[in-house]
Amino acid sequence: MKPFLATLSGQSVTPPPIWLMRQAGRYLPEYRAVRASAGSFLDLCYAPKLAAEVTLQPIRRFGFDAAIIFADILLVPQAMGATLSFAEGEGPRLSPVRDGAAVAALSVTRIRERLNPVFEALTLVRGSLPDVVSLIGFAGAPWTLATYLAEGQGSPDQREARLMSYRAPEEFQKLVDLLCEATIDYLSAQVEAGAEALQLFDSWASMLPEESFTRWVIEPTARIVAGVKAKAPRVPIIGFPRGARDLIRYAQETKVDAIALDTAVPPGFARDRLQPLLPVQGNLDPFALIAGGDVLEREVRRLTAALAGRPWVFNLGHGILPETPIAHVERLVELVRGTR
Ligand code: CP3
Repeated sequence: MKPFLATLSGQSVTPPPIWLMRQAGRYLPEYRAVRASAGSFLDLCYAPKLAAEVTLQPIRRFGFDAAIIFADILLVPQAMGATLSFAEGEGPRLSPVRDGAAVAALSVTRIRERLNPVFEALTLVRGSLPDVVSLIGFAGAPWTLATYLAEGQGSPDQREARLMSYRAPEEFQKLVDLLCEATIDYLSAQVEAGAEALQLFDSWASMLPEESFTRWVIEPTARIVAGVKAKAPRVPIIGFPRGARDLIRYAQETKVDAIALDTAVPPGFARDRLQPLLPVQGNLDPFALIAGGDVLEREVRRLTAALAGRPWVFNLGHGILPETPIAHVERLVELVRGTR
């Protein structure tokens, strides 16, 4: 069994498999070259050959144990009818969805047709990956997608989604229901196209009061896990509830197969309380990777001391940053694999 999939199935693999969130991206000159030839970021997402190429670049360069398909979590809202654009250097902009009329204008009927380029890219990548490397598909979790839709862009406090969830709970529930349905369809199609594991990004799962966390993070995630498993029972699903406090409830109630840890989760807590329940993935600080040197060695040792010996996938606690030196990533792989 491939090391990454073996780990997700509950085996302890030494050295741990490694991949990095956002591993295809602007810190790589070969990514910047393909991105420039594609035009915009979204053009790149919808060009299967180019998306496959940038997915494979970090595998060739670093020999990671998993490739994650190059796409974006916001392609799903776009496929549901929201307008989406990425202004250079400014992050995403969407047509805001804040009331029942805007929710009613969304549709889940054309997900497979509109996102077909992503499935084509998955099939291309799967056909050219080395045998030991696993292919990860992904989607944004409904709460995080709803925060972008309600706001029309990113927001530090998820203001519009939190307000809408209180002021118009039925309309907000309807939005989350649609996002669940679209996401189950999208992830199932990714598995059909060649994805061997899936990750659900809930980047804005922090700050929610208990009841909201249950209703907007745990319940939709559980529904997606059950919905995908009904069609693809063996594909492992990794949940990434970034900033969430109650990781134990998340692990137990969503039925994800593994949990990705953000940088703030204490490794000792992960070892004592989470690893007995499920494999963990994480959680080097992306800034420690930028710093490199002794800091990087110390942090890798610290994580290894806590998490090795039980199922663990090495990763960052959030996406790799554009200013990360390539030499530090090379060093990281050596440190994790103990090859030097
Ligand atoms: O991990 C990978 O290599 C696969 C590809 C991937 C991207 N985005 C490519 C991307 C994945 C898994 C994502 C997930 C994603 N997208 C999340 C969840 C993870 C997280 O970071 O919390 C979120 C919130 C988004 C939405 C998004 N996409 C934002 C806010 C931005 C702008 C910020 C930025 O970094 O520029 C993006 C753009 C984006 N998505 C880029 C990449 C490589 C940069 C675009 C470029 O090349 O200019």
